[in-house]
Amino acid sequence: MANFSFLNLLFIVLFLIAAAEGTVAASNPVAVVKGAYYPSWNSSSFPPSSIETSLFTHVLYSFLAPSNSTYKFEVSNSTALKLSNFTASLRQKNPPVKTLISIGGANENPTLYATIASRNSTRELFIDSSIELARKYDFDGLDLDWQWPENPQQMEDLGSLFQEWRTAIEREANATARPPLLLTAAVYFAVDFFVWGTYRKYPVASINQSLDWINVMCYDYHGSWDTSATGAPAAFFDPNSKISSSYGLNSWIEAGLQKKKVVMGLPLFGRTWKLKDPEVHGIGAPADGLGPGVNGVLTYSQIETFNKKNNATVKYDATTVSTYSFHGTSWVGYDNNVSTVAKVHRAQDLGLRGYFFWVLSYDREWTISTQASNAWPNGKWTLKDHVGASPELGTF
Ligand SMILES: *[C@@H]1O[C@H](CO)[C@@H](O)[C@H](O)[C@H]1NC(C)=O
Ligand SMILES: *[C@@H]1O[C@H](CO)[C@@H](O)[C@H](O)[C@H]1NC(C)=O
Ligand SMILES: *[C@@H]1O[C@H](CO)[C@@H](O)[C@H](O)[C@H]1NC(C)=O
Ligand SMILES: *[C@@H]1O[C@H](CO)[C@@H](O)[C@H](O)[C@H]1NC(C)=O
Ligand SMILES: *[C@@H]1O[C@H](CO)[C@@H](O)[C@H](O)[C@H]1NC(C)=O
Ligand SMILES: *[C@@H]1O[C@H](CO)[C@@H](O)[C@H](O)[C@H]1NC(C)=O
Ligand SMILES: *[C@@H]1O[C@H](CO)[C@@H](O)[C@H](O)[C@H]1NC(C)=O
Ligand SMILES: *[C@@H]1O[C@H](CO)[C@@H](O)[C@H](O)[C@H]1NC(C)=O
Ligand SMILES: *[C@@H]1O[C@H](CO)[C@@H](O)[C@H](O)[C@H]1NC(C)=O
Repeated sequence: MANFSFLNLLFIVLFLIAAAEGTVAASNPVAVVKGAYYPSWNSSSFPPSSIETSLFTHVLYSFLAPSNSTYKFEVSNSTALKLSNFTASLRQKNPPVKTLISIGGANENPTLYATIASRNSTRELFIDSSIELARKYDFDGLDLDWQWPENPQQMEDLGSLFQEWRTAIEREANATARPPLLLTAAVYFAVDFFVWGTYRKYPVASINQSLDWINVMCYDYHGSWDTSATGAPAAFFDPNSKISSSYGLNSWIEAGLQKKKVVMGLPLFGRTWKLKDPEVHGIGAPADGLGPGVNGVLTYSQIETFNKKNNATVKYDATTVSTYSFHGTSWVGYDNNVSTVAKVHRAQDLGLRGYFFWVLSYDREWTISTQASNAWPNGKWTLKDHVGASPELGTF
């Protein structure tokens, strides 16, 4: 009798746990994000059919821009062909990936986005046109890469833009009975800007509510703009400054953004310096110019070629979680498989949603993309905020 009621109780408890987990999974089905930007400017040597889709969950077509006079997307015939070819090629792939159109980019005039975001009427033109564009070419979502809002007013406008964009996306999904488009944004590594320009902070409440996630640009911390010393361009930690992924990602979380909305950027490129003294070659070593590559930039693939050709010394730096190589006075800071895998583990420890790469075609035969993907097994996203609470599980 005593045994019977104990088993009964145990059964009820187990049932309740299972039911609670079921509810969480059903009401909050999120999967790990393994994203990558696709370089549409290189589509002839890197056609969409060549993308190894088993390594990614989301591929972002970069970049498109709205017209600077109508604020709508006016797609040329050649771009239209590329767009439809892109989604058609990826739809045939097994496994499938989701596709997004990325709007903006580093080479775009940020004033255009400031103008669009500044008024309700221009926001509406832009938003409606972007939704129409994504649907017309069969994309799953939209990404905004405005580099960067320049002051507190523009940050506030960005918040309005995201809110109205989300409402419009929901309205369109309701009206057409289709899954809502995804909405993401590429953002600065930290939630606020403390290094240059006017102090400003991203509209976290709006982002938290309106975006599926942010793609945090955890790179370009050091580069051609300072040739006096070598640096880890994408240091995860920096004992001497706040310019690190650890600082940046934590700043987003501490500002109240849900961890499942934070995706860490990983660079498939490195930055180079010319050492002052070839015998002094650590991170922070004196330099007096740029090393190889256009403007001191080499793709991961080019770095591997450089290392082999010159029998360069390759070092992993555990302090910053980064890799560097040198030969003579040429010095390269980058991420190889070791530092990339270490960073992917850090992202998991932080409870983030996933990672993304800039940019697909810079890898060498999918080496880094493969190691990163293997380092986050079976695609599950688990919320690790609260020790002791039941994990919030997502499925791949
Ligand atoms: C274009 O793609 C080819 C093939 O993957 C690659 O070798 C080249 O570096 C890419 N160039 C750019 C600018 O992305
Ligand atoms: C269309 O896609 C195919 C397969 O990916 C590729 O070979 C071709 O170059 C693409 N054409 C255009 C115009 O992008
Ligand atoms: C708008 O874009 C056109 C074409 O790219 C350019 O010539 C013009 O200067 C731009 N106008 C403004 C106000 O930025
Ligand atoms: C673009 O395509 C449309 C529809 O196929 C066609 O009517 C138009 O002439 C084309 N424009 C150019 C500049 O080729
Ligand atoms: C513009 O503002 C009005 C009133 O606040 C609102 O109803 C409308 O949805 C806004 N436009 C957009 C694009 O959301
Ligand atoms: C979309 O539909 C849901 C469920 O019916 C509703 O709660 C929501 O308000 C609708 N959203 C918009 C923007 O119409
Ligand atoms: C973000 O959303 C979560 C869940 O809805 C909420 O608990 C948190 O307070 C929000 N953060 C901000 C800054 O609005
Ligand atoms: C490459 O460098 C290592 C030391 O870093 C040296 O032991 C080796 O002999 C070198 N190989 C060639 C082919 O120069
Ligand atoms: C990195 O690649 C090297 C060479 O292929 C391999 O020996 C090593 O195990 C890899 N390390 C990680 C962490 O993937």
